[in-house]
Amino acid sequence: MLIQCSGRVYSAEQALPLQRKTNNQGLETFPTLKEVKKMAELERKDYQIWGEERKEALRKSKEIIESWGIRMPEVEPQVLDLGLGDFYKVGLIEYWIANSEKEGYCGKFLFVFDNQTCPYHHHNFKHETFFILKGKVKMVVAGKETVKSQGDVLAMEQGTDHSFTGIGPALLLEVSKPCQPNDNIFESKKIGENGIL
Ligand SMILES: [Fe+2]
Repeated sequence: MLIQCSGRVYSAEQALPLQRKTNNQGLETFPTLKEVKKMAELERKDYQIWGEERKEALRKSKEIIESWGIRMPEVEPQVLDLGLGDFYKVGLIEYWIANSEKEGYCGKFLFVFDNQTCPYHHHNFKHETFFILKGKVKMVVAGKETVKSQGDVLAMEQGTDHSFTGIGPALLLEVSKPCQPNDNIFESKKIGENGIL
């Protein structure tokens, strides 16, 4: 497993001392190797697009989001093609604003381009609720198709398969229990390790 830090690539072991943080008493703290590995798994760098393709996707999405008058959080987004190499068909851009196992919650914004799909999956641990902030999406929930538009709310129980596709570009807010590695179980076995990410 490789970890990117200040533009260089390290193994999880090498990255360990680089992940130091200062706690509220001003003391340096170091995460455990297990925590660093978990962080890297959640960053999902192997499932994102990079280079010019990434820059272009971010430029295009930013233009749309700005035209809606929305300012996104100052975090590095995950520009996910989920390893399938067909970003504008299967993929999405995620802006994580919180994911705390300790405090028990997660919040992120999900952006899809027109006709781009976050593919069919479920979670065994994570319960999540979507709020459609902008645009319109076709959602498939447990095999049933439904259209959700700006202002709609949809809760997703554990074990319920779901996907969504932009009908035009769309922005969703997802609030949920914490995201954990291996809790995204995709229908397509080509994603992650035999469908598990
Ligand atoms: Fe989900």
